[in-house]
Amino acid sequence: MKHLVAPSLLSADFAELKKDIDMVNRSQADWFHIDVMDGMFVPNISFGFPVIKHIRKYTEKPLDVHLMIHDPARYLERFANAGAYVISIHYEATIHLHRTLTAIRQLGCKAGVVLNPHTPVTLLSDILEALDLVLIMSVNPGYGGQTFIPRTYEKIRQLKSMIDEQGTDTLIEVDGGVTLENAASLYGHGANVLVAGNTVFGSEDPEKTIAKLKSS
Ligand code: DX5
Ligand code: ZN
Repeated sequence: MKHLVAPSLLSADFAELKKDIDMVNRSQADWFHIDVMDGMFVPNISFGFPVIKHIRKYTEKPLDVHLMIHDPARYLERFANAGAYVISIHYEATIHLHRTLTAIRQLGCKAGVVLNPHTPVTLLSDILEALDLVLIMSVNPGYGGQTFIPRTYEKIRQLKSMIDEQGTDTLIEVDGGVTLENAASLYGHGANVLVAGNTVFGSEDPEKTIAKLKSS
């Protein structure tokens, strides 16, 4: 069972981003989680292509790009060119989900779907094969540092049994309110990738915190 950790740069120090990128490079983290927000799909704006391109020059690990934007199909090529490894799009922001996921794979990236807390995992049962990853939001997207929604455990369990039943190798990622306290239980329920922003960058020793998450 894969246990990956993806620190979210949203909680990094943007004035000293290089320092935080180097820390993640040195750490046991597996991916960089990159949160893109458009101020429409979510009530917040983060950063776009130029920032990601510059980040990519220094990252020694894959970029896990979480698009919190309306109609993400418009920008897939640009995110692929900016250096994305995984591109995850929201179920709630995409009309032709299967078509858009296929386009992500055609660009050579891993295709992910993100589910808001109110969106049931069963809605993905007909397209699991078109997916490399499902990102279950355990908070409402838009901000770091929010409180974990406990119903997430049941969603992970349901999704894992769908994946086992269909025999796909889809990864389960969890994003929002992940802490040192709930990490082991999230992995235990079937999560493969944990995103952590505040828990990592708000801690005294972020590198050590990543190691603790990794061994949870
Ligand atoms: C929230 C973002 C998350 C966020 C997580 O909309 O998708 O990736 O950075 O932050 P924490 O781990 O602090 O909840
Ligand atoms: Zn995210």
